[in-house]
Amino acid sequence: MRETQRDFELRTIIRGWRSQGERIVLVPTMGNLHQGHLALVDEAKRRADRVVVSIYVNPLQFDRQDDLANYPRTLDADRRALESRGVHLLFLPNTELLYPFGLEQSTRVEVPELGEMLEGAARPGHFMGVATVVSKLFNLVQPDDAVFGEKDYQQLILIQRLVADLHLPVRIHGVPVVREADGLACSSRNSRLGVAERARAPVLYKVLLKAARLLEETAPPAAVEAAASERLERQGFRVEYVTVRRAADLAAADEQDEDLVILAAAWLGAVRLIDCLRLQRFPKSI
Ligand code: PAF
Repeated sequence: MRETQRDFELRTIIRGWRSQGERIVLVPTMGNLHQGHLALVDEAKRRADRVVVSIYVNPLQFDRQDDLANYPRTLDADRRALESRGVHLLFLPNTELLYPFGLEQSTRVEVPELGEMLEGAARPGHFMGVATVVSKLFNLVQPDDAVFGEKDYQQLILIQRLVADLHLPVRIHGVPVVREADGLACSSRNSRLGVAERARAPVLYKVLLKAARLLEETAPPAAVEAAASERLERQGFRVEYVTVRRAADLAAADEQDEDLVILAAAWLGAVRLIDCLRLQRFPKSI
């Protein structure tokens, strides 16, 4: 696996691959890699000849300084995991490279509405930071494809919108949520859970499964959301939202919509967990 921190070297490597007619895929990450990230890499390998993984903890997408400072940085372990998965290039840009005019002066990319609801409302500026850094990474790497996890479902939809709206020639692929054996969605934040909280955390997924069953039985979305929130609160979660949305654009779901996603964010102690579940309400017969 090759590795670079420099844009000039990155472009030279990419140009070499392109001249051989090779297809290039990017997996943007913030490091602290777990099985969820490695599933993105596996999908990337299926999609293209050359896999580039970027690791950069992007200050512009953190709304809290303590969250940024506490974000786990595990570069040596990440490097080993990527090497063993057959990644071709690890791109490690720093802030001077990505934000040459400084964070405050940076040109910003914003996606209205999609970037302001749910996670965007809970973490002001978060999606501006994500959209900005992903645009920069796409411009630097110029991949044919890029892979993102469905765990951050709103992020995935927002990036699909960004690419369509800015006419960026990158195909975006989502990878289903990877879960621990007990159902908890893999996340860098899981390591911050205490023993008792870790034991309770899979309840979040169980509640989403139950909500999906109720929706399939045609219960109205608002009733399902209320029941799911109540179940979580009873189990010791502090709920920020449980919401049923249209999978394509995260608009509020009505009773006619078929392709849905249930999204949830809830605190267990000091750890904020998010999860989601897609469902097809009235599967069409073939
Ligand atoms: O999902 C993440 O890890 C980050 O939001 C991303 C897409 C790498 C942008 O910093």
